[in-house]
Amino acid sequence: MRFISVACKVYLMSNKTMCRKVEHVELALIDEMTYENKCSSIYSDIMLVHQAFPGASFREVTLATDFLGYSLNAPIVIGGMTGGHPATAGINEKLALLASKARVAIGIGSQRALVENRCEEVLKTYKIVRDVAKDVPVIGNIGITMLGKYNYSTVAEAVSSINIDALAVHLNPAQELIQLEGDASFTQDLLDKLADLRKEIAVPVIVKEVGTGLSMEAARVFSRIGIEIFDVAGACGTNWIKIEGARAKRAGDLLRAALAEELSSWGIPTPISVIECRYAVPRSTIIASGGVWSSYKAAINIALGADLVGMARPVLKALFNGGVEGGLEYLKLFMEGLKAIAFLTGSSSVLELKKKPLYIGSRVLSYMRSRGVNIDTYLMNKGG
Ligand SMILES: Cc1cc2nc3c(=O)[nH]c(=O)nc-3n(C[C@H](O)[C@H](O)[C@H](O)COP(=O)(O)O)c2cc1C
Repeated sequence: MRFISVACKVYLMSNKTMCRKVEHVELALIDEMTYENKCSSIYSDIMLVHQAFPGASFREVTLATDFLGYSLNAPIVIGGMTGGHPATAGINEKLALLASKARVAIGIGSQRALVENRCEEVLKTYKIVRDVAKDVPVIGNIGITMLGKYNYSTVAEAVSSINIDALAVHLNPAQELIQLEGDASFTQDLLDKLADLRKEIAVPVIVKEVGTGLSMEAARVFSRIGIEIFDVAGACGTNWIKIEGARAKRAGDLLRAALAEELSSWGIPTPISVIECRYAVPRSTIIASGGVWSSYKAAINIALGADLVGMARPVLKALFNGGVEGGLEYLKLFMEGLKAIAFLTGSSSVLELKKKPLYIGSRVLSYMRSRGVNIDTYLMNKGG
């Protein structure tokens, strides 16, 4: 790693990529910057069945899950959020401490700043996660559009400069479309470049959305180039259209702000995205994220076919309100709730939820039919 102190300092003071990351954290914490009630009708259309005789002891129910070669306390991933700007190092350090204490996986925010300027000050803001979270999977992060701007080996070298266990490549066309500095160029050639990147780096690649959901079609495209892990990041939680719309409004770009309002409920709800992906790429590992902020929603998504769940905003919020202790309390309740629901459905382990009776109402069923999902095949794919 080259150490270019002066150049780096100038870069740190003036760089838009890194300032945007700070603005994102600030805006993401505002309650209105979410999908609010968009998904409540979907969740109320799906139900796990209570078992008055669970046939197991609550004490024996386990959430333990293997992921990326690590043994985790629960199938939980803290979604990638930040890094780059010096102000984000402290957040990443706390997130990493939380992940390590709770023994769950953790993602880092986009490593774009590191691709653009590989200097020590920038590197430190990401590397702190690996330094602190030694005993859990650390997932790197880059946007697929970076492969249109930089050679895949440059990207590979930058993302691998911290010791990651997997690389999440994010797809965010809706966000790029509204973002002031956005580049909504998601062309076919990026697939070949991603395939090259995948061969170059020594760790698995995860394809993820950032909060607008993955469709069957998107999952299939990436499955064809060998991707086996998908994070659906559906449209039920953090809303990047609203966040970028708010930034556009601040900057006086009223057309962009109005477009954001027009599209503010756009996206595939998380449970629907889980169904789509489990059906389209049945043997893949699927992470359900996007508004999966309670144990109940986590249990529903696992029952629908997800292997793990992820959350970003609520962890950040808990950390801001109560520090690492606050984050731990949030995750502890989340895990206890998941364990309780597993028990009450008669499951002795969390992944057994996939096999338990599940009510799917007419709204979701008719969506599945209209998308050509064969219900029996889907139920078989998810292990039900
Ligand atoms: C403050 C913040 C920053 C984020 N930055 C990134 C990022 O750099 N790369 C990425 O792939 N996703 C990013 N995300 C998206 C999350 O990883 C996650 O996919 C999404 O927020 C949905 O989860 P949630 O509804 O629990 O927040 C960010 C989310 C938040 C809240």
